[in-house]
Amino acid sequence: MLADWLAPKAAALEARGLTRRLRSRAADEDLIDLAGNDYLGLSRDARVVGAAAEALRLWGTGSTASRLVTGTTSLHEELESALASYAGQESGLVFSSGYLANLGVVTALGGPGTLMVSDDHVHASLVDACRLSRSRVEVVPHNDVEAVGKALAERNEPHALVLTESVFSVLSDAAPLAELAATAAAHDAVLLVDEAHGLGVTGAGRGSVHAGGLAGLDHVIVTMTLSKAMAAQGGVVLGPALLREHLINRSRSFIYDTGLNPAACAAALAALRVLQAEPERPAAIHAAAARLAAACDVPPSSGPVVSVPLPGPRETVQAAELCLDAGVRVGSFRPPSVPDGVSRLRLTANAGLTADDLDRACAVVTDAIGQVS
Ligand SMILES: Cc1ncc(COP(=O)(O)O)c(C=O)c1O
Repeated sequence: MLADWLAPKAAALEARGLTRRLRSRAADEDLIDLAGNDYLGLSRDARVVGAAAEALRLWGTGSTASRLVTGTTSLHEELESALASYAGQESGLVFSSGYLANLGVVTALGGPGTLMVSDDHVHASLVDACRLSRSRVEVVPHNDVEAVGKALAERNEPHALVLTESVFSVLSDAAPLAELAATAAAHDAVLLVDEAHGLGVTGAGRGSVHAGGLAGLDHVIVTMTLSKAMAAQGGVVLGPALLREHLINRSRSFIYDTGLNPAACAAALAALRVLQAEPERPAAIHAAAARLAAACDVPPSSGPVVSVPLPGPRETVQAAELCLDAGVRVGSFRPPSVPDGVSRLRLTANAGLTADDLDRACAVVTDAIGQVS
């Protein structure tokens, strides 16, 4: 029965070149990695690994229950305070992933009395959060502040949440945060900014909301993942203390989910401390991204991701395979993971790439693009 149901779907995906496949990596592989999201190059840093190992010894292998039961440790609270203070926010609440942080905050603020105004390019976690929120959702064209204002002005709902990313995950372009925050304020709405690709990267590491002077405003909420620049796992919602209190009481992905593993908390905290002690790291990400963008002849990126459009999904997969064969791992974006239907190579810059790595990576990637284009 399952075969009749699923086999035609699998065949249809295969025919369009859109089948996704898992490929495990070796711990000791000798590759230049332009596919992972370890933007600050800290996932194997001895200080970060040591902090996680120490937490494992102290706290054991799991958090043992929901944050509301036994899943909150002193590490969770220390991490929340450290992230909030680094990003200029009053408080933070850690979730077990960035996906669940987005789900948790949007659903806890949603419902029939809240309009969601969502940028057309936001991450799947925010799209899913809107769907789960039982709110009316207006999807507005990408970075269109006027459309946001219009949706807010015409609403009947007493509350509204505007959803965007500071640096978008696919095109790696920046949102007009100052204009969005002003528009939200003018219409008595709240702006939620997902800084998954901003933390550790933009605003000298503190993110674009901080850089734009918007941190700490009571109508601006930030979410972040700890799985990228923070080299760990988990997510966080940052904002006023009243919001934190509300989430602890109303956020289903916080209440009904086992708390973040203490070892992940310790790793993220250690990564944040390294970033604070070595504030030059974010500039290295931007320099590497600029080099990759120039080599691939695409516009400079606002964040760590360099997106290179290719003719189609098959060419994208083929180019990624050619790179891998030549010792460079790159990512690929294909529908439905792209907002505009265009398949792309996804190159992620990180602060750990050496000049030699970048020379080699640029040569390999441009050669692969040339072969498939
Ligand atoms: C913009 C954005 N938001 C949220 C997430 C989800 O974060 P996590 O991987 O921690 O669940 C991601 C990760 O891919 C992302 O790119």
